[in-house]
Amino acid sequence: MKILLLGKNGQVGWELQRSLAPLGELIALDHDGAPGLSGDFADPESLAATVRAVAPGLIVNAAAHTAVDKAESEPDFARALNALAPGVLAREAAALGALLVHYSTDYVFDGSGTAPWAEDAATGPLSVYGRTKCEGEALIRQSGCRHLIFRTSWVYAARGGNFARTMLKLAAERDALSIIDDQHGAPTGAELLADVSAHAARMTLTQPALAGTYHLAAGGTTTWHAYARHVIAFARARGIPIQVAADAIRPVPTSAFPTPARRPANSRLDTTKLQAAFGLTLPPWEQGVERMLTEILTN
Ligand SMILES: NC(=O)c1ccc[n+]([C@@H]2O[C@H](COP(=O)([O-])OP(=O)(O)OC[C@H]3O[C@@H](n4cnc5c(N)ncnc54)[C@H](OP(=O)(O)O)[C@@H]3O)[C@@H](O)[C@H]2O)c1
Repeated sequence: MKILLLGKNGQVGWELQRSLAPLGELIALDHDGAPGLSGDFADPESLAATVRAVAPGLIVNAAAHTAVDKAESEPDFARALNALAPGVLAREAAALGALLVHYSTDYVFDGSGTAPWAEDAATGPLSVYGRTKCEGEALIRQSGCRHLIFRTSWVYAARGGNFARTMLKLAAERDALSIIDDQHGAPTGAELLADVSAHAARMTLTQPALAGTYHLAAGGTTTWHAYARHVIAFARARGIPIQVAADAIRPVPTSAFPTPARRPANSRLDTTKLQAAFGLTLPPWEQGVERMLTEILTN
């Protein structure tokens, strides 16, 4: 079976290159594509030609416009990447009979309440990013293609920049830090997303009834403030020079850091459906974060 992976160099795409490789012949593209194959989501029809040329049995879309604040000032571009291009992938997947794996986000919800969101809860995005991701989901469902849509949250990877790295840098330089403590969610590793995606795709290829929308995030829940404290304490305990005292990591409300895009306060995702359908146990968020920290602190 041929597998077409789009967005191969993003946080999740990079890990998918590893986790999808044993499932078949992997053709992995980024933005720039490969000779004769376009991977540019800004040009959906050339993407359609790529799908037709490769004729995969499995399409995995890890590409997206993920710059949440920037999306507020370029809504058409965000819509092209997050909604229209996935819609075209879905149309081509339907024509081929291929399975499409796609990623969506906690930002499709309005963040109200404190209960974890179930897959069938009403959406209510607060931002251009959330709206365009929501439209992308809808276009995939309308296409009639076999699909897995995984809504996830607070994605990090050891490779490239991430929240933990930023906290470690600030903690080494500053006497005090102010971190948002009224947004709740689960930091989720790109490794976990990629491993679960490969497992779920493999099962869905033989059991089509498993297709659908699932919430996929690490176990437990935290705030950015508690996440930062955990990262900094972990580094301090391993002898990394840290300037900031534990009690000088101050909790502040979201309103202390105004941003162009509004973020949901409650990003908790209920993952019961995914764990039951695919026979999986999602590990606590601390496990993946500590693995990532060990990797970046060792290097
Ligand atoms: N990051 C999060 O916290 C988070 C949370 C919830 C859900 N998600 C979802 O998870 C998925 C993966 O996210 P991620 O964190 O891995 O994102 P990421 O690291 O920002 O990667 C996005 C990828 O999209 C590619 N891309 C951007 N513009 C493109 C274009 N015009 N054509 C083709 N590719 C383009 C990027 O390539 P270049 O680098 O070459 O531009 C990059 O490889 C996305 O669907 C995202 O919406 C992410």
